[in-house]
Amino acid sequence: MPEVDTPREVKYLDPRVAIIRHRVEHVGNVVAIASGKGGVGKTTLATLSALVLSKRGLRVGLLDLDFNCPACHIVLGAQDAKPREEYGLVPPKVYGVEFMSIAMFVGDKEVPMRGVDIVNAMIEILAITRWSKLDLLLIDLPPGTSDEVLEVARLLKHKLKTILVTTPSRLSIAGVRKLWEVLKKLNVPTLGLVINMVRNINEIKAVEEEVRKWGIENVATLPYDSELENAIGSPDKLLNTEVAREIRRFWDKVLEVMMAPQQRTPG
Ligand SMILES: Nc1ncnc2c1ncn2[C@@H]1O[C@H](COP(=O)(O)OP(=O)(O)O)[C@@H](O)[C@H]1O
Ligand SMILES: [Mg+2]
Repeated sequence: MPEVDTPREVKYLDPRVAIIRHRVEHVGNVVAIASGKGGVGKTTLATLSALVLSKRGLRVGLLDLDFNCPACHIVLGAQDAKPREEYGLVPPKVYGVEFMSIAMFVGDKEVPMRGVDIVNAMIEILAITRWSKLDLLLIDLPPGTSDEVLEVARLLKHKLKTILVTTPSRLSIAGVRKLWEVLKKLNVPTLGLVINMVRNINEIKAVEEEVRKWGIENVATLPYDSELENAIGSPDKLLNTEVAREIRRFWDKVLEVMMAPQQRTPG
């Protein structure tokens, strides 16, 4: 596997790269929520996880790194949240969660970006955001194995772990398998895998069998919940959904593994 490919000018001349490590010095764990395909529930899982864990008393941050289609602010109902300028940007707290997103700067305007612009924007947002002492920083990623995933793996490699998301669809599983292979080669540990939008328990057998071969032990199932849409934008309602209850159970196991020193998922 070649070294994570970053444009020359960004890689060698950018002083912000050094600042990024300093910015996450007091963050215990950085966990990216990733998938091979879009529309499988990454944003939902990242945002509900942040709410669930904050409610539980953990100091949690949530960073939306899906630049083309940021959506965590919509799930949180935090369209008006803004950072405070103070030697960088201090993220606003939304329902106890320190939250940062490109949507705070561009609103709901479309943001067409090419690879080098995405890398630059990522470096900028990671370098200027002043997280406080956090137990956990969750990162919502766009799908696939392209710039955002490779860059976050390069910039935060010393702390980064991931949680994978798929639906029971074979197409989604094929995508997440490729992502898992890439992460393995980059030595980014996978803490667990979530099979989302499950309508029938029989449909997850094939996924579970496949995932077992990869050595991922913590596999959770989230039901398809037609009520979820009505709860978008209302954290209190979201926390009362069946999906949130399952996410809470999933994190019980994840926290056990994550807090264990030097723990790495096999494979
Ligand atoms: N378990 C679920 N039950 C019902 N709808 C869901 C579930 N998980 C996600 N959704 C919905 O599916 C759509 C895509 O989810 P999203 O989290 O935006 O996916 P991604 O971030 O992977 O693109 C959203 O409308 C979301 O509300
Ligand atoms: Mg998303």
